[in-house]
Amino acid sequence: MPKRKKISLIGAGNIGGELAMELARRELGDVVLLDIPDKAGVAKGKALDIMQTCALEGYDANVLGTSDYGDTAGSDVVIVTAGVPRKPGMSRDDLLSINLKIIRNVAENLKKSAPNALVIVISNPLDAMVYEMKKVTGFSRNKVIGMAGALDSARFQCFIAEAVGCSVKDVNAMVLGGHGDTMVAVLSYTTVKGVPVTQLLPKDKLDAMVKRTAGGGGEIVTLMGTSAFYAPASGAISMAESYLKAQRRTIACAAFLEGEYGYKDLYMGVPVVIGAEGVEKIVEIKLSAEEKTQLDASAKAVRELIDAAAKL
Ligand code: APR
Repeated sequence: MPKRKKISLIGAGNIGGELAMELARRELGDVVLLDIPDKAGVAKGKALDIMQTCALEGYDANVLGTSDYGDTAGSDVVIVTAGVPRKPGMSRDDLLSINLKIIRNVAENLKKSAPNALVIVISNPLDAMVYEMKKVTGFSRNKVIGMAGALDSARFQCFIAEAVGCSVKDVNAMVLGGHGDTMVAVLSYTTVKGVPVTQLLPKDKLDAMVKRTAGGGGEIVTLMGTSAFYAPASGAISMAESYLKAQRRTIACAAFLEGEYGYKDLYMGVPVVIGAEGVEKIVEIKLSAEEKTQLDASAKAVRELIDAAAKL
């Protein structure tokens, strides 16, 4: 019998818990749920609760709660949510100095414990955190990616389906750039069953939805007092699944750019083919002059964030 895949989750909070449950439900592998020693009880308690759900539902997956990185050895995938989420009124960038220290600590540990894993970072501010993860671990760019575009695209798809009055299954959207106010909803590649969305909705409505998408995370923070967790978990799972099953899906995610789209030494949301090798290809789509200008502005904002992180 081949061994099951191993997926380690660093951070057993809201997103970590949802990830563990959903990975087990889909039987994508055995799960290790890790948190700091102070929160080891939470990690262990959630793991037991999920194991007991597996017994009820008949899912074949083991879930282990721990604060010991030794348990992550041999991981195929690691998903990082360690850090502090936003409170109402905070931007993602406000989390920079707190979460940077946490990511550095996590990266130092993963460098030793899980050198062969695909690492998916979710912690915010995403583009700076995933950049730091690659820098500290020294892992190759095809093995370190950030989850943001999948989530931002899903938010936009959700609003489009609602406005058009169609199934969300038929909506295909692509949101690129940094995971912040400057993200770029690429309308020229946004379709409903192949029909450009610009033929289906008036400009003012589309503009309002683009704006709502950029503030989509903040909208939820204002409502709940903390950040979203179901959709972020789902976005990361689609990336992990494409890797584990060698699906080669094209997913918008933060990838390390080495000249693609004219940017270098930067993580930013671009369309990525994720397969058995991790990042197998960064797809360079043709953008309109207006979209490229917007992407340039987004790249500039990400660069400023990465430069600020380098000084901390
Ligand atoms: N190592 C491991 N886990 C850590 C560390 C660390 N050094 N520091 C903090 N954590 C844990 C916390 O103890 C907590 O359990 O990370 C967990 C984060 O969980 P939540 O506070 O519930 O936050 P969550 O909603 O899961 O979001 C996590 O993802 O989307 C981003 O902005 C969000 O940065 C935030 C992150």
